[in-house]
Amino acid sequence: MRPTLGVFLGPVELSSPLVAASGTVGSVVEFAKIIDFARYGAATAKSVAPEPWSGRLAPRIAPTNAGMLNGIGIQNPGVDAWKEDVGPHLGRIPTQVWGSVVAHDVQGFAAVAASMETVGVRAIEINLSCPNLDGTPFALDPVISAEIVRAVRIATTLPIGAKLSPDAMPIVPIADAVMGAGADWVVVANTVMGASIDIETRRPGLSGLIGGYSGEAIRPITMRCVLQIAAASPDTPILACGGVSHADHVVEYLLAGASAVAIGTAHFALPRVASTITKDLQRYLRRHDIDNISDLTGAYEPW
Ligand SMILES: Cc1cc2nc3c(=O)[nH]c(=O)nc-3n(C[C@H](O)[C@H](O)[C@H](O)COP(=O)(O)O)c2cc1C
Repeated sequence: MRPTLGVFLGPVELSSPLVAASGTVGSVVEFAKIIDFARYGAATAKSVAPEPWSGRLAPRIAPTNAGMLNGIGIQNPGVDAWKEDVGPHLGRIPTQVWGSVVAHDVQGFAAVAASMETVGVRAIEINLSCPNLDGTPFALDPVISAEIVRAVRIATTLPIGAKLSPDAMPIVPIADAVMGAGADWVVVANTVMGASIDIETRRPGLSGLIGGYSGEAIRPITMRCVLQIAAASPDTPILACGGVSHADHVVEYLLAGASAVAIGTAHFALPRVASTITKDLQRYLRRHDIDNISDLTGAYEPW
C-alpha cells in the first residue's frame, strides 16, 4: 500500500507535508508553469503590504559558499494591485494558496489580511520576521508580535500562521506569545540575519548591508528552533522552514516536531525539487513500514 502523505497543520488539512515558502515562488501564479504545485500541500505567495513597496536598490542578492543572502526589501505591488493581478487565477493552482502579509504597523497587517480574504487564499501567513526592512524584525519582540497576530485574528476568519525569526533568542516566548494571540501555527522560520563584503571592491554584498541568509547552511539553526519550540510547547503546530532540498531534511524536521515543512531557496536551483522529494519520502516510508507520514512528527529518539 502507498503510504499517506496527508497531514494536519493545526486546523488545516494538507495533501502533502510540503509547502512552498513565501518569496521563493513569486506570486505562485507566475510560477505555475515552472513548479508542479500539485506536489505541495500549500503554496505561499510572496509577502504583500498595504501599499506598493519598491524594495531595496541593487545588489539585492549575494551568493555565498553555502546558501545565499537576499535583501530584496519585500518589493511588492501593494494588496489592491496584487488582488487584481493574482486573485482571478488562484482557482487554477492545483494546491491551496496562502497569502503572506507584511506591513510597517499593526493596522497595516490587519488591513492586508482582511483584504486578501476576499480573493480565495486559504490561509494567511503573517511575516513578522523580514530581516531586511529598516529596523528590527517584529518577531524579536513577543509583545508587538502578539499585538499583530491579535489584530489579524480579528480581521480574518482564515487560519493564520505566524512566521518567526531564527534570530529571536530565546524563541519559545515568541512562539507562545503568537499562539496565545490566536495564531493557528508557527512558521519556523524566516532567514537568518547575515551580511558579506567583497574584498576586491570593498562593497557589501547587499546594498542594504544586512539581509537574510538562507539555504542548506541555516538548517541546523532552524532545526534547533523547531526542537526548542516542540519541547517547550508540544501543542503548538510547527511549519518548519530552512535549508530543505532533500527528503532526508523533511524527515528530520518532522522527527524534530514539525507537522509540515516548507521549501524555499532550493526552488531557485531545482524548481521541480518537490517531485523528487515526494518520491523519496514515499520510499523512506515504505522502507520503515510507516503508513502515515504524520506518525513521524516529534518521533525522534532522545539519547
Ligand atoms: C529571495 C527570497 C525572498 C524571500 N521573500 C520572502 C517574503 O516575501 N516573505 C517571507 O515571509 N519570507 C521570504 N523569504 C524567506 C523564505 O520564505 C524562507 O523562510 C527562508 O528563505 C528560509 O528557507 P530556505 O532556507 O529553504 O530558503 C524569502 C527568501 C528568499 C531567499
